Amino acid sequence: MTIDETLPVRSSNDIVVVRQMVRASAVQLGFNLVEQTKIVTAASELARNTIDYGGGGVARVQSLRQAGRIGLRLTFEDKGPGIADIELALKDGYTTGGGLGLGLSGAKRLSNEFAIESRPGEGTRVTITRWK
Ligand SMILES: Nc1ncnc2c1ncn2[C@@H]1O[C@H](COP(=O)(O)OP(=O)(O)OP(=O)(O)O)[C@@H](O)[C@H]1O
Ligand SMILES: [Mg+2]
Repeated sequence: MTIDETLPVRSSNDIVVVRQMVRASAVQLGFNLVEQTKIVTAASELARNTIDYGGGGVARVQSLRQAGRIGLRLTFEDKGPGIADIELALKDGYTTGGGLGLGLSGAKRLSNEFAIESRPGEGTRVTITRWK
């Protein structure tokens, strides 16, 4: 079974739907409850950023099978202003929106692989992977 779903991320309700899809996918792939909760929490943070800073976008939820390993990959993409200094944005406590500045760093800690691609003026793509 292969999972590959792309969902809109424009409203708070979209975040609920993304969370549900990520949870269901993690269950389907056999992730335990702690692993499910980690990836769902990371998804929430990234979806919230997509809306708050990226002006909305999409989330892709994909299952992976590589060399016998099973993984879940999430990609959040927007066409917003981008992130000028990615290293700075990843620092605990850095926020330009009056948040706690813990979303990106938290999502990174909750993932096995984490990547940000961003060009100022063009948008942002954050990809996380959790392996079982
Ligand atoms: N998709 C994005 N597009 C543009 N800037 C972003 C995006 N995601 C994050 N950022 C920038 O990175 C900063 C840090 O993001 P992070 O999620 O860590 O903290 P926060 O959203 O400000 O607060 P918190 O998530 O703790 O409520 C943001 O304040 C914002 O400046
Ligand atoms: Mg955030």
